[in-house]
Amino acid sequence: MAELSASILAADLLNLERDIGEAIRSGIKWIHLDVMDGHFVPNLTMGIPFGYAINKKFDVNIESHMMVDNPDMYLDKYCSFSKLVTIHYESPVQTIRVLKEIEKKGAMPGISINPKTPVSSIEPLLQSVKYVLVMTVEPGFSGQELIEEAALKIPHLNEYRKRNNLDFLIGIDGGIKKENISRIAALGPDIIVSASAIFSGNIEENINSLRSCIKERKNGQ
Ligand code: DX5
Ligand code: ZN
Repeated sequence: MAELSASILAADLLNLERDIGEAIRSGIKWIHLDVMDGHFVPNLTMGIPFGYAINKKFDVNIESHMMVDNPDMYLDKYCSFSKLVTIHYESPVQTIRVLKEIEKKGAMPGISINPKTPVSSIEPLLQSVKYVLVMTVEPGFSGQELIEEAALKIPHLNEYRKRNNLDFLIGIDGGIKKENISRIAALGPDIIVSASAIFSGNIEENINSLRSCIKERKNGQ
């Protein structure tokens, strides 16, 4: 069954400890840290101090989603508190070099693609990654509508993974909510990232209902 990863972009920043604690008590094993630099995307969010603080306080896997022009900057630090560090194919760096650096520094290297980027662009990188994060919104903000066609990259990646005997995880990020999560889960991702559907309102109830939609689809196939 797909794991839910909680993006704290939509959490209450003045009550972050409470919100993350509640998510973890409700069964969340992954915290998704959306790192934005105001250049690669038109928004500025959280970074290193947040990662250290979460890591110190909670026993949870952190996945850092680097929506930045220069993911090389402070890579050591991100790798020290993250289980997984995901960079964007669209960032202006030589992605293969940075992916190798991430692995050398002890984190799982991930690659993310924007909705308009086809899977074929990253095929040459797929031997070198442990995670592919399919964006189903344009990166930058939480609370946007899911772009349906982008989600269809998941079966394509699944097939590619099987055919080539690879073992990367497949994640999906953006616009997931109760109304679409069972359909999305049926496409076969390993990790489903959600911000607003988890952190708006009652966190425990939201997580339980999102997870039961994932399960339902699994039982009913
Ligand atoms: C968007 C971020 C997503 C975002 C998802 O740039 O990468 O992780 O937080 O937010 P929701 O789940 O609200 O679409
Ligand atoms: Zn993200």
